[in-house]
Amino acid sequence: MIVLTTPTGGIGRQVLDRVLNSGEAFRVIARDPSRLPEEVRTRAEVVPGSHGDAETISKALVGADRLFWLVPPPGFAAPIGAVKHYLDFTGPLSRALEDRGIGVVGVTSLGHGYQGRSGLLEAAFAMDALIEGTGTPYRALALPFFMENLLRQVESIKEQGSFSMANAADRPLLTVATRDAATAAAGLLLDSSWSDQARVPVVSPDNLTPNEMAAVISDVLGRPISYHQVPIEGLRAQMQQHGAGPALAEGMPEMIEAQNDGIYDAEPLAPRGSKVAGETSFRQWCVDTLEPAVRG
Ligand SMILES: NC(=O)c1ccc[n+]([C@@H]2O[C@H](COP(=O)([O-])OP(=O)(O)OC[C@H]3O[C@@H](n4cnc5c(N)ncnc54)[C@H](OP(=O)(O)O)[C@@H]3O)[C@@H](O)[C@H]2O)c1
Repeated sequence: MIVLTTPTGGIGRQVLDRVLNSGEAFRVIARDPSRLPEEVRTRAEVVPGSHGDAETISKALVGADRLFWLVPPPGFAAPIGAVKHYLDFTGPLSRALEDRGIGVVGVTSLGHGYQGRSGLLEAAFAMDALIEGTGTPYRALALPFFMENLLRQVESIKEQGSFSMANAADRPLLTVATRDAATAAAGLLLDSSWSDQARVPVVSPDNLTPNEMAAVISDVLGRPISYHQVPIEGLRAQMQQHGAGPALAEGMPEMIEAQNDGIYDAEPLAPRGSKVAGETSFRQWCVDTLEPAVRG
């Protein structure tokens, strides 16, 4: 039995599609089951509730062999820090796993081993440590910057011909298309052969700077698109002014400072000489996803 969290989320929805097509028995946990596609409601067991809730996660794990685990991003105004958000949310899971031997496939960040503060990323590493400490089999999908983050900038790309972030304009920023993360997750969930703990980095085959991303976007859209680097301090002040809680107002700038300091270089991309997972190039993602979003 495969159990899926976040079946309505960006990655979870795509993991769900792949598991649905495999024919394996599965169960989903959803806060609002009415948001699930009809086919899922008829073919899967649905456990209503939040996977951060002790009773819900215990119920969902009965008879489970594999679990897809993803901590939802902290709410904008959440009054707690990033590490507390991840640990509070994962606490009930860590207690429910006991000695059941359930293989957990978890979404986390690339950059493990970095020495320094990294905001939202160190929170994800704290989650990994909590799960690993239970002794359960664990595959940590170590992901860099999602290409899909740029979909938040579709209006700016369309109207102003630019996108902006606080990431250094000329420093390579490893990325991943969430479809590659979902493919890797589904592959591990459907593979009953592993019972150890390991990190599984999933990254795009290219490693572009934001300026180089702007050049690719310009090429794909057929018009000039530029990248503007905003100062980190400006971003921090702006988030505080808009009422962001500490998880984002502190966690996001710290994360970007760590990205600008090369946090993703801290973790080997292909442990034990294996092939690096992830096949979608940034250009391919722009053709398949960004361009239709800008056009639509
Ligand atoms: N963005 C990046 O560049 C990046 C990079 C590396 C790792 N990550 C990690 O990736 C994860 C985000 O994945 P995503 O993009 O797939 O997320 P997403 O699209 O924002 O989906 C969030 C999911 O969580 C559910 N959810 C929200 N609040 C919940 C709650 N309180 N209890 C239970 N479920 C809740 C939502 O379902 P409903 O609202 O329908 O209930 C939805 O299914 C985060 O853990 C983040 O740290 C992100």
